[in-house]
Amino acid sequence: MRISVLGTGYLGATHAAALASCGHEVLGIDADAARVEQLRLGVAPFHEPRLDELLARGVRSGALCFDTDYGRAARFADVHFLCVGTPQRPGSHAADLSAMWSAVHRLAPLLERGCLVVGKSTVPVGTASQVRDALRDNAPAGRSVELAWNPEFLREGHAVEDSLGPDRLVFGVASDPAYETLCAVYAPILASGVPAVRTDLPTAELAKVSANVMLAARISLVNLLAEVCEVTDADVGDLIEILGYDGRIGNRFLTPGIGFGGGCLPKDTRAFVARAEELGLGDAAAVLREVDVLNMRQRARTVDLAVSLLGGRARDEEVAVLGAAFKAGSDDVRDSPALDVACTLAGRGARVRVYDPKAGGNARRAAPGLTVVDTVEDACRGAALTLVLTDWAEFRSIDPVSLADVVRRPVVLDGRLSLDPDKWRAAGWDFHGLGRRVG
Ligand code: UDX
Repeated sequence: MRISVLGTGYLGATHAAALASCGHEVLGIDADAARVEQLRLGVAPFHEPRLDELLARGVRSGALCFDTDYGRAARFADVHFLCVGTPQRPGSHAADLSAMWSAVHRLAPLLERGCLVVGKSTVPVGTASQVRDALRDNAPAGRSVELAWNPEFLREGHAVEDSLGPDRLVFGVASDPAYETLCAVYAPILASGVPAVRTDLPTAELAKVSANVMLAARISLVNLLAEVCEVTDADVGDLIEILGYDGRIGNRFLTPGIGFGGGCLPKDTRAFVARAEELGLGDAAAVLREVDVLNMRQRARTVDLAVSLLGGRARDEEVAVLGAAFKAGSDDVRDSPALDVACTLAGRGARVRVYDPKAGGNARRAAPGLTVVDTVEDACRGAALTLVLTDWAEFRSIDPVSLADVVRRPVVLDGRLSLDPDKWRAAGWDFHGLGRRVG
């Protein structure tokens, strides 16, 4: 099939490469010419395991091309995927749909023949029907342009595996031909046994944000449990092991710490509440406001604990922050709790040095005032306090014995339940972990 992918960020670039690897001819479109140039070389504009390889293979075979020209997309493809970003709107909790509307209004007047437009971006429920009407009103092909919604659930750091082997596919459609087209697009993935749920447009729009608010609530709940553990001398590490054996609860996505961040969970939770308020369901959505409050509280708690471990004052203290990405496996620092804590401590006068295995460059750009260094040792040299704020495997395998010789005071705060308290204490460290028993 001939497919266009509009928007080549984390979602679109991966989706385009995955579709090319499924045997389709794919044209990725982005307004950013520099990004298009990079993608044409088969290089991902961000860190994502296996994506470079998949992009390079697609580009080399000729099945995957990139351009800035919407006209080329309209002429080329019979299926168009909308993959533009829908970030939080500045000064509001609602989603900013301007990139999506811009893509729709650029594409629609160019659609001369019948085609399927497929929304993948995360949007407030009710948006799809407006997109459908805008396409039909503005496309020369009119009602023969159909809209479907097919949300993506990919996690950064696992985007390729999540695209090629998702837990499920969701096809929000209004007709059999639209459903059959989506089945053909995903034929190899369906053949591998991935379940597909056929539903309507609003349910498909809700699917992604619903999964994310469930996940966000789960993390805030486990962080609440961690806080209770701290004041009762219980241990959240043991507690989540116990909870995880309950088949109804399970042990995945149950790690407490400095809270969730990134480009999805925080903004999806807020956008869901904003939409619920518009729908007159503001009271019912109150629980999700608390999920957000609990989440932001983890960052404040981490800063408070760090300051108290520094003796009550951060000013002029040397502090090492290990981790800037919002989670391991990604170089993304959007709404990163780690970077937020580092910036707050620096704002209170601490001399913060940050190290991250992949996100150093993005951290430098996002927080130019911070000192970002290239190794764990450079961050920790002379430090009075070491904070571990992203769950990178590299930090788990640090040798606490040799690191104790690098720092000024061997005091560590584990914000991610990453380190083995016994090992660090045996190496002479004063170990503190959010929700962990004080040794
Ligand atoms: C998320 C969803 O998982 C994905 O399905 C959706 O499509 C996009 O949003 P992503 O943003 O890549 O994916 O990150 P995710 O792995 O969900 O983690 C989100 C945040 O929660 C991170 O900051 C992570 O550190 C935190 N987290 C995750 C925890 O604090 N504890 C956990 O147990 C799991």
